[in-house]
Amino acid sequence: MKDTLLIKGGNPLRGKVRVSGAKNAGLVIMAASIMAEGETILDNLPRIRDVEVMIQILNEIGAETKWNDDQSLSIMVDPSQIKTSTCYELSKQLRASNLFLGAMLGGRGEAIVSMPGGCDIGSRPMDLHLKGMQALGAKTKIEHGYIYARVDKPSGARVYLDFPSVGATENIIMMAAKTPGLSTIENAAKEPEIVDLANYLNSMGARIRGAGTDVIKIEGAQKLTAGRYAIIPDRIEAGTYMISAAITGGEVLVENVIPTHLHPIIAKLQETGAIVEEQDAGILVKSGPYIQPVDIKTLPYPGFPTDMQSQMMALLSMGRGSSIIVENVFENRFQIVDELKRMGANIKVEGHTAVVEGVGRLCGARVKATDLRAGAALVLGALAAIGETEIENAIHIFRGYENLCEKLISLGADVR
Ligand code: UD1
Repeated sequence: MKDTLLIKGGNPLRGKVRVSGAKNAGLVIMAASIMAEGETILDNLPRIRDVEVMIQILNEIGAETKWNDDQSLSIMVDPSQIKTSTCYELSKQLRASNLFLGAMLGGRGEAIVSMPGGCDIGSRPMDLHLKGMQALGAKTKIEHGYIYARVDKPSGARVYLDFPSVGATENIIMMAAKTPGLSTIENAAKEPEIVDLANYLNSMGARIRGAGTDVIKIEGAQKLTAGRYAIIPDRIEAGTYMISAAITGGEVLVENVIPTHLHPIIAKLQETGAIVEEQDAGILVKSGPYIQPVDIKTLPYPGFPTDMQSQMMALLSMGRGSSIIVENVFENRFQIVDELKRMGANIKVEGHTAVVEGVGRLCGARVKATDLRAGAALVLGALAAIGETEIENAIHIFRGYENLCEKLISLGADVR
């Protein structure tokens, strides 16, 4: 059963684990690579399923790719060979496929992009993406499941985002990077992955200032030149391993991290009673005597990340006392609740709010990963549960965690 994870719980995880490159930074940078002619080499890209699907999309639209011996990925782009459309079969497999919209519009002036798929965590509209691109001169329509966009007279403009959407900010940055004149994104998303995209584009000759703040200014450049770039470490993977120490009563040094990216997660983990130390080599997490209840509200960065909400829920369900979790980013991100309840958790959901009554200990059960981060939360619950847990649909988890089983086993977990 290739798609099922079997985990015997109860082993305290101990040792070191090295965090891989950031999925969400890697995916957008892969899309952006088609904007430059020649060979782009990306270091620190995680070998996960989403990256493999992104490679297939790149190949399908005419870019050549190859994994090098040093684990970097080369992407060769001959602009005359690049198609300006993506197909449904591949796009439906990941949300990040929508990022070809900005890359194609910026690079080639037109794009036909299948409406994206990805995790089923709530409605994921594209209105803010399209609003931004329209402001820069694009004409867009949605027909038969595809977004058709074309820009004849691109011109820099001011865009205000009603919500700091990560994907919309990224798409607009990519388009604006090659749009003549000055573009300004107000109420932009501030996630570290946005900064990584801007750094990558600037390394190719783009002129982007202010990434990481809520006002980003982009002066269009005529040409971008391909080069070599290293992706930042994955803060969500790091946070997941940090919780693995806290939930199993263990002690784990999480290496290859940028601590500032982790501050929202560290702050909440410390409130649960875990001991978190920033060291030169990484972040050391030791479990506390018991898991204290905390309240969490997910928010855009630097708020607590929605991508860590499910994992925190698993931790708090094993605590003492009641915690309140408010999900403000995606409306459908409590599917994990029914699965954790199978393991004995006591959680009540009312709209965007979940009340988690800590039960002290979870029990192994048959459960199903409904999305990537829910799957990660079930892995955490299973590592700490009494007995064996069988997690079906584990393919969701492999979309975002590189060498998950190997890393957990090296920390002493019993995972098959
Ligand atoms: C990205 C991440 C995802 C993370 C999310 C929030 C990638 C590939 N995925 O997703 O892991 O959970 O950021 O940090 O980077 N919205 C609109 N209109 C739009 C776009 C978004 O209303 O045009 C809303 C969405 O419905 C959602 C909220 O904005 O409620 C946040 O979405 P967004 O920041 O765009 O997330 P993604 O870029 O899809």
